[in-house]
Amino acid sequence: MRIAVVGAGALGSLYAARLAAGGHPVSLLARPAAAAAVASGGIRVEGRIRVEGREGAAEPVRSIRVTTSATDLAGADLLLLAVKTYHTADTLPALAPLRGAVGAVCSVQNGVTKDVALAGVFGEGAVLGAMSLEGATLLAPGRVLWTSPTSTAFGERDGRLTDRLESVVVAFRGAGLKAEALPNVVAAMWAKFGIMVPGATLSVLSRLPLYRLYQEPRLGALFVALCREVQSLAEAHGVPWEDFPGMRVATLCRLPTEEGVKLLAERGRAWEAAGATALKASTLVDLERGRRTELADLVGYLAAEGARRGLYLPYASVLGEAVQAVAEAAAR
Ligand SMILES: NC(=O)c1ccc[n+]([C@@H]2O[C@H](COP(=O)([O-])OP(=O)(O)OC[C@H]3O[C@@H](n4cnc5c(N)ncnc54)[C@H](OP(=O)(O)O)[C@@H]3O)[C@@H](O)[C@H]2O)c1
Repeated sequence: MRIAVVGAGALGSLYAARLAAGGHPVSLLARPAAAAAVASGGIRVEGRIRVEGREGAAEPVRSIRVTTSATDLAGADLLLLAVKTYHTADTLPALAPLRGAVGAVCSVQNGVTKDVALAGVFGEGAVLGAMSLEGATLLAPGRVLWTSPTSTAFGERDGRLTDRLESVVVAFRGAGLKAEALPNVVAAMWAKFGIMVPGATLSVLSRLPLYRLYQEPRLGALFVALCREVQSLAEAHGVPWEDFPGMRVATLCRLPTEEGVKLLAERGRAWEAAGATALKASTLVDLERGRRTELADLVGYLAAEGARRGLYLPYASVLGEAVQAVAEAAAR
């Protein structure tokens, strides 16, 4: 399968390298500096990599065709958008000439507005839903740390199990990436949003790694409150609120708050026991590195879209305002 990846950051580099190592022709659209690094040294994925069931050496993958021109992506069977949400609006116009010149398009970004944005450029029929649970950090251009090898879910937005969906999942699995086809990918994106919004917001406010945040009872109660507000917005969009592996949002919201807090604390203790003590929300990592965060598209979107629809979402309004003020102050 010919694959085009847009954005040579953490996730884009991970997917590009693993898919190319799996034998797929991969084109990667990158900023000039990243393109130069990948052109000269390829992409090295570090961390726990399995090649044919064994621990694999982190050899750089050099078979990636890297470019700074979107039109070079024409002919791809699958285009995968992997820029931060705040770069979507300035990236899509460059991709517009590819309408009709690529097969399916999908976004592995967080957030719940990405597919509408893609449909506006490529047409609704081109968009395949995607939700990435992978964890990756860019160490330098062309060097990525695979922090938690997990999985990527794909699905048609109307729930059909199509041939193209099957081909994408087979291509990813063939490259040693865990992938699954879901009949309810939109619900899965919203479930991730239900975890991301509280985690991203409360991480920036508390500056705690996730395993600690989950174990703090008052932060746990705020987490549950924000998750319930995401549920309200999901349901206002007609999206069912369901549990998924690793994202028990329906259970969390249904339980009395103190039980939900206990569930979160159990998760925090499990991560601690497994040694996952360095894991931080990407918003906190970005804040610490002096980079822009995706908060506006997470809690900011929840508050704004809730208000637009006349929903009462007090935690999103107040905490969203607080956290964006914190991020702005940190950036000065
Ligand atoms: N990293 C993860 O573990 C993970 C997991 C699940 C979901 N996600 C989501 O995936 C998305 C990407 O995250 P990430 O961590 O990979 O971000 P990232 O490391 O910042 O990577 C994004 C890359 O895209 C580049 N870029 C932006 N606009 C571009 C354009 N028009 N043309 C070419 N390149 C462009 C950026 O360059 P500059 O830095 O120079 O702007 C950057 O290298 C986010 O929405 C994130 O929430 C990430």
